[in-house]
Amino acid sequence: MIDALPEKGVPGEQILAELRELRGGDLPTHGGRLFAYVYDPALDGLDDLARAAHATSAHVNGLDPTAFPSLLAMENALVAAAATVLHGGPETVGSVTSGGTESLILAVKAARDAHPEIARPRLVVPATAHAAFAKAAHYLRVELDTVPVKDLRADPVAMAAAITPETVLVAASAPSYAHGVVDPIPELAAIAAERGVRFHVDACFGGWILPYLRRLGADLPDFDLAVPGVTSISVDLHKYAYAPKGVSILLHRDEALRRPQYFAYADWPGYTMINPVISSTRSGGPIAAAFATLRSIGDTGYLELATRTREAVAMLAAAVEETDGVRLYAPPETSVVCLAADGVDLFVLADELAARGWHTQPQMAYADLPPTIHLTVTAAVHETVADFAPDLTAAVAAARARGPVELPELPPLTPEMITPELIASLAEGLGLAGGDFTQMAMVNSILNAAPPALREALLTGFLSFLQRPMTQ
Ligand SMILES: Cc1ncc(COP(=O)(O)O)c(C=O)c1O
Repeated sequence: MIDALPEKGVPGEQILAELRELRGGDLPTHGGRLFAYVYDPALDGLDDLARAAHATSAHVNGLDPTAFPSLLAMENALVAAAATVLHGGPETVGSVTSGGTESLILAVKAARDAHPEIARPRLVVPATAHAAFAKAAHYLRVELDTVPVKDLRADPVAMAAAITPETVLVAASAPSYAHGVVDPIPELAAIAAERGVRFHVDACFGGWILPYLRRLGADLPDFDLAVPGVTSISVDLHKYAYAPKGVSILLHRDEALRRPQYFAYADWPGYTMINPVISSTRSGGPIAAAFATLRSIGDTGYLELATRTREAVAMLAAAVEETDGVRLYAPPETSVVCLAADGVDLFVLADELAARGWHTQPQMAYADLPPTIHLTVTAAVHETVADFAPDLTAAVAAARARGPVELPELPPLTPEMITPELIASLAEGLGLAGGDFTQMAMVNSILNAAPPALREALLTGFLSFLQRPMTQ
């Protein structure tokens, strides 16, 4: 058991050794074999630099920029860099947030609070929009209108039809996370502008690579502040800007659009609290690390990283196309390869790939879309991609030999029936209680067969099962 509060303090060397041992159980954050969660440029020395930069500002508090002008300077520099990459103008302003979800919540909050006269504000998104919009809608009590997509992209006609007088924001993705395709931003922005509604581009995932892919000649539509009608856009620096976790940027076309994003409160005996973002006390560590990362890589560095990523995507996509039993599910037009299985069990295939050291992200069936495997491709994949095709062939052959998962007879479950006791017995029965998550095909198949509300309840129960103090 790990004891976070020993009776007597423990020497630093020992603690670091313990941390290294703990980290040994994680998936590899470097090496180009983990296709979700992490973004690796494979640049020598960058981690050390970011770590050192983080340490310079870890104890600095972003709560009050007059006390810590170093953070204000770095934040303004990061916002300026994002505004340059995303074609902002002289009026563009922005904020540094802790991540994509926070940026989206704040874009929705700004839109909602710009219309205090609308009692029941609504948000229109395509069905492929990131789940963080649903979270924003839930937290902010905004109604979410989810519009079916056409060929995986937002459908402008259907989106237009979903706008009502209560709509405070329309949003779309550049690109979507699940499939890596770019929504028709110019058409959508024009529709929103015509209806007098704010339009947010969620470029959290791809906003730092799309501009470079376009410079390399990729055939991608305009998607950023260059498009009239785009009122805000978000880009995560902890994704394709390769900064350590904890930094995203939310840009607004002008200051008036940003104003309702702020929270201000003077009506208490303490300091007047003025917050542009959700947190009040904020560590300067991630901001300094992002600042160091951007300055170290530089514009030409990002172009080079995008070149490597693009080549890796092309090679992965070719491997999928050439392998019997799998097919590309979405056009590999950005930094995602999304594949579906033909005649083999997709979840068994994901396990077989993992057994060969390729950690992918299975995506469950949704509406009329089949389950797929998602690969987020970063520059580091360029170094390992040549080994992928033979391993994919072997993994498909192994999955075929194993055959499909046979679902056990389970009693019909509803979300209300999910109790901690049921979760504990399911976890035991499925071999998850001991923390071994290498054989997931059965679990994924059960989740895939469950309607979304049941899947949510099962996974919430399981996370709650895992998240218990070690003393229990
Ligand atoms: C398109 C998109 N939007 C928003 C988010 C949420 O970002 P975060 O996980 O940093 O909160 C993601 C994360 O992958 C994303 O891909």
